[in-house]
Amino acid sequence: MFFYNFSESDGENMTVFVTGGAGFIGSNFIFYMVKKHPDYRIVCIDKLTYAGNLSTLEPVLNNENFRFVKLDICNREEIFKLFEEEAPSIVVNFAAESHVDRSIEDPGIFLKTNILGTQTLMDACRKYGIKRYHQVSTDEVYGDLPLDRPDMFFTEETPIHTSSPYSASKASADLLVQAYHRTFGLPITISRCSNNYGPYHFPEKLIPLMIANALNDKPLPVYGEGLNIRDWLYVEDHCKAIDMIIHDGKVGEVYNIGGHNEKTNIYIVKKILELLGKSEDLITFVTDRKGHDLRYAIDPAKIKRDLGWEPDTMFDDGIVKTVNWYLENREWWETIINGEYQNYYEKMYGNR
Ligand code: NAD
Ligand code: TYD
Repeated sequence: MFFYNFSESDGENMTVFVTGGAGFIGSNFIFYMVKKHPDYRIVCIDKLTYAGNLSTLEPVLNNENFRFVKLDICNREEIFKLFEEEAPSIVVNFAAESHVDRSIEDPGIFLKTNILGTQTLMDACRKYGIKRYHQVSTDEVYGDLPLDRPDMFFTEETPIHTSSPYSASKASADLLVQAYHRTFGLPITISRCSNNYGPYHFPEKLIPLMIANALNDKPLPVYGEGLNIRDWLYVEDHCKAIDMIIHDGKVGEVYNIGGHNEKTNIYIVKKILELLGKSEDLITFVTDRKGHDLRYAIDPAKIKRDLGWEPDTMFDDGIVKTVNWYLENREWWETIINGEYQNYYEKMYGNR
């Protein structure tokens, strides 16, 4: 099996493929990497689905060590061509359909992108060689925990037990990634993180949706009684963890990423209203999500012990930073809500 240790001198020859880099976490990861490793070449591959927003990447688009390629990770021929051309050392796969509610409405695209897209990328890695393939997964592959057992947490040993078509597709991809390691010796790592929040979060997910609706004085739709619990991770802490895993993580291993920031949904919604000085009368309880997972909670002991990772931002600070970011970057989310962001690619690349 092929094990590789990175050294300082790798920097100038290092090309990193970041798939899904026009989305929420991928774009934050690109900004993190450009700052932390300015000598790395970063190639972002993104299909620009409804969730991809190229304008987010505007600050790096003209950076000479950065390239954007509009491409579906399921497009085997073009993906293989790009591997041949760019010879990446590392692939970090963020590209996915990521919204649970959409997976309940229409599971098909989740299976295609999240499973078959992962296969395509790994087949290219096998053919052209790679130092590391990293799969960005989720704690949702472990299913959920009961609300009345605060002593229970997801560890890397917790059995896979999925609830939604989204989590089932992510779990399937994880199993395939592990199979490619065992069968073909592909040098992989997997990270499973809890719910992220922070800048550039698409306003269909809980926190940005509630901020945008509150600012527009629209109702805040809380599923069920709002008692479900999520374990919130500030996106930059997630990026820091992935950077550590791709450089120092052990090939073949899974790392859970989370910082013990469990909150009920209703707590978060009320906190956002309080920070924005809006009335709780905006809260509207709506029909619960089908199969709604009760509680997610990560035990991050392994990544802390093995790689020294710890989160820098706890929820009470992170939510203030996030609300302020949405206040200061109104145009970013307003162009999403009015649909204009989808014209950005044509405007930038239409005549190139
Ligand atoms: P996102 O929906 O904001 O972004 C996904 C990106 O992938 C978009 O830019 C989209 O255009 C791109 N994409 C989708 N299908 C594609 C395809 N076929 N080919 C190329 N690009 C494609 O998602 P996110 O919240 O940034 O999540 C990124 C990754 O992290 C996902 O794999 C997700 O499962 C995982 N994850 C997210 C969270 C979270 O809280 N957001 C938590 C745990 C794990
Ligand atoms: P979401 O942001 O969709 O992330 P995930 O389902 O992957 O955890 O939802 C977070 C929690 O917020 C989840 O328990 C569902 C709930 N929720 C609402 O109550 N109202 C909403 O409008 C949304 C989008 C989510």
